[in-house]
Amino acid sequence: MGTKLGSWLDERLGWRQVWDAIFLRKIPKVNWFYTLGSASLFVTVNQLITGILLTIYYVPTPDHAYDSVMFITTQVPAGWLIRGLHHWGASAMVILVILHMLRVILYGGYKYPREVTWFTGVILLIVVIGFGFSGYLLPWDQKAYWATTVGTRIAGTPPIIGDWILRIMRGGEELSAVTLARFFGGHVWILPSILLLLIGIHLYLVIRNGISAVPKRGE
Ligand code: HEM
Repeated sequence: MGTKLGSWLDERLGWRQVWDAIFLRKIPKVNWFYTLGSASLFVTVNQLITGILLTIYYVPTPDHAYDSVMFITTQVPAGWLIRGLHHWGASAMVILVILHMLRVILYGGYKYPREVTWFTGVILLIVVIGFGFSGYLLPWDQKAYWATTVGTRIAGTPPIIGDWILRIMRGGEELSAVTLARFFGGHVWILPSILLLLIGIHLYLVIRNGISAVPKRGE
């Protein structure tokens, strides 16, 4: 915005400095593997938009969850598309984030001064896996029910605290309406809040420290 309005706003908000820091920052000569972080960001935005749209029709109760998902897939205009994008986007997100992490490992991008970027990345990976696990139950079909039965039982295997973890996850001894409500709450409120906060810190650090250059032999 080279306009008068842009300058008027810049005098009051200082937005040009922020814009330049984000979009006009210098980056070293890198290769295509360095686009995996942005690709992760892209699928994250896809998941947020399609996920919000799905909540318009999805009902997180044992009576209605499965039917509401069927209704979205067969009756709602473009519902199949929105659900498909969210469903396949979930797998794409896990794959892309892992590939992005492998790039960071292979190129030593985690080293000084980017350790904290790495730490936030590790938690991001756990959050992404949490999204996959909690989202899998939401259609409340046989596959979802039994996968979560098995998954929560595995989470319940550690000694001493295992039983406590299992009951926290299920909201009781067995899978029930409470489990579904819990997984839904985690999937649409708790995990997205953590994800957005962490991505904010992650990207701030990427800009603050600059992207690392491709390492040379022996470096
Ligand atoms: C939703 C998940 C994630 C998003 C949206 C994201 C996004 C990004 C973006 C856009 C960049 C800059 C471009 C690039 O290097 O590709 C980046 C850099 C980085 N990411 Fe991630 N990331 C995520 C997960 C992770 C994970 C799981 C790790 C590691 C455990 C990680 C560690 C790093 C590090 C250390 C850098 C700096 C690399 C360098 O300067 O060479 N990120 N991330």
